[in-house]
Amino acid sequence: MIDMKPPLTHKVPQHIAIIMDGNGRWAQSRGEPRVHGHRSGAQRVREVVEAAGQQGVKVLTLYAFSEENWQRPIEEVHALFSLLVSYLREEIERLHENGVQLCSIGAIEKLPEDCQQWLRVVEERTRSNQGLKLVLALSYSSRTDILRAVRGIAAAVKEGTLDEQSIGEATINSYLSTNLLPEPDLLIRTSGEQRLSNFLLWEMAYTEFYFTKVHWPDFSRADLEAALSDYAERERRFGSIHPQ
Ligand code: IPE
Ligand code: IPE
Ligand code: MG
Repeated sequence: MIDMKPPLTHKVPQHIAIIMDGNGRWAQSRGEPRVHGHRSGAQRVREVVEAAGQQGVKVLTLYAFSEENWQRPIEEVHALFSLLVSYLREEIERLHENGVQLCSIGAIEKLPEDCQQWLRVVEERTRSNQGLKLVLALSYSSRTDILRAVRGIAAAVKEGTLDEQSIGEATINSYLSTNLLPEPDLLIRTSGEQRLSNFLLWEMAYTEFYFTKVHWPDFSRADLEAALSDYAERERRFGSIHPQ
């Protein structure tokens, strides 16, 4: 049968944010330890990064570890960071060849030293690439980021370098760790939960939400394309009465 779906060239989200959830449940449903789910989840990142770039997405922000995730058992935390190091080590050349530019947001200084080092290496290697911007949110908390911005703004006012009356949304944007990124157009959360879990709270004021029951280790290129098709059907009005 001929596929009559229109091509996805129009209304491609510029920036997609993904809460990669459900690794633990995916593993538990197979009688495997949670870390097995994280390992399979890490394998999915490659496919989704590649597919997003091919679809014309400009920025992909992946929520990989939240500030709250430090409360997990130490063995799980260690396993997650060792998977991150393996990902960075194995993917550095492929990312570079595909023109991906990698960067990170969050309290990177809290990460294990080898993780920080590998992040620096990959960021440096891919710095001048012009393709997909891949943002890893690590030890990230949106409220902490907003708090940091508020403190920075207060300090600037106190120093006299910022006039209180001139503080606007753009000022707040400029103090957030996401200051160089466009706001997300589409948020995807896998595994059925319908919450933000402290992710990009200020930035997602007008983001479209897409929730799927698929666990992250099963989330494929086809699932990403389904989310993009869904997004393409939506009418974004931003408070006006006309689509924008
Ligand atoms: C997402 O999967 C990975 C991280 C939060 C690091 P989970 O580990 O949260 O999986 P579930 O939600 O327990 O199934
Ligand atoms: C959010 O998932 C964080 C990441 C995916 C990195 P969690 O599984 O930690 O969130 P909650 O606990 O369900 O809110
Ligand atoms: Mg979870």
